[in-house]
Amino acid sequence: MLRWLTGTPASPGWPATVGPLRTRAGAVTLRPVRLRDAKPWSELRIRNQNSLLPWEPTGVGSWSERHHPSAWAPQFSVLRSEAKRGAVLPFVIEVDGDYVGQLTVGNIQRGAVRTAWIGYWVDANRSGQGIATAAAALGVDHCFGPVGLHRLDATVQPSNGASQAVLEKIGFRREGLLQRYMDVNAKWRDHILFALTAEEVVGSAAETLVRAGRASFH
Ligand code: ACO
Repeated sequence: MLRWLTGTPASPGWPATVGPLRTRAGAVTLRPVRLRDAKPWSELRIRNQNSLLPWEPTGVGSWSERHHPSAWAPQFSVLRSEAKRGAVLPFVIEVDGDYVGQLTVGNIQRGAVRTAWIGYWVDANRSGQGIATAAAALGVDHCFGPVGLHRLDATVQPSNGASQAVLEKIGFRREGLLQRYMDVNAKWRDHILFALTAEEVVGSAAETLVRAGRASFH
């Protein structure tokens, strides 16, 4: 019988700490979100409003209301239950132990497709140091390894050059343009669909960065 018909644990590869991968910023690690992340989450999200707002799904209420420390507990509880049922992998990106952003793998589908999307954000004060690229590489390797996925999608607005650069550095391909795909910052925005399948990765995504001199394991 095919493996996907025999049943698997609900959330393989979760919870997990992934990394470290060393960059010029320091040691990049992914770790599960925690209830006690409220303060750093709120502080970073509020300080980064200008750099995040153009790329994020439209939300209800003002930015400061949505990112008040008290807004974290309900969000955390949804993420935790979705992670337990194997639908989401909600990671914090740390550099040398500091909370600098988040990486989320969402809409995990198993069965014959074994696919998900990947998304991330990083504190603008730490941008351009290879943090998102290292985090995305760790996320890819975790998804294609312990989580058992075969394909990852990433959707990026055409004007988001930095995020496209992140994906291209770890081997994601452009598959096409999704017109009026997502409600972002109160408007339907086109997105470029990027994708990567497991057989396209030579060794691991982290090794791709190490071979390019962008990261190291030690
Ligand atoms: N056009 C082209 N390339 C650019 C641009 C630009 N306008 N701006 C920066 N870059 C390049 C940098 O030079 C760098 O490439 P290099 O290493 O070859 O020099 C690359 O983009 C960025 O790589 P990192 O340093 O690994 O990325 P960083 O840690 O700065 O994070 C990120 C990038 C996540 C896009 C950050 O700027 C951010 O959080 N932005 C706001 C939220 C966001 O856009 N998230 C992504 C949404 S799409 C998605 O999640 C799939």
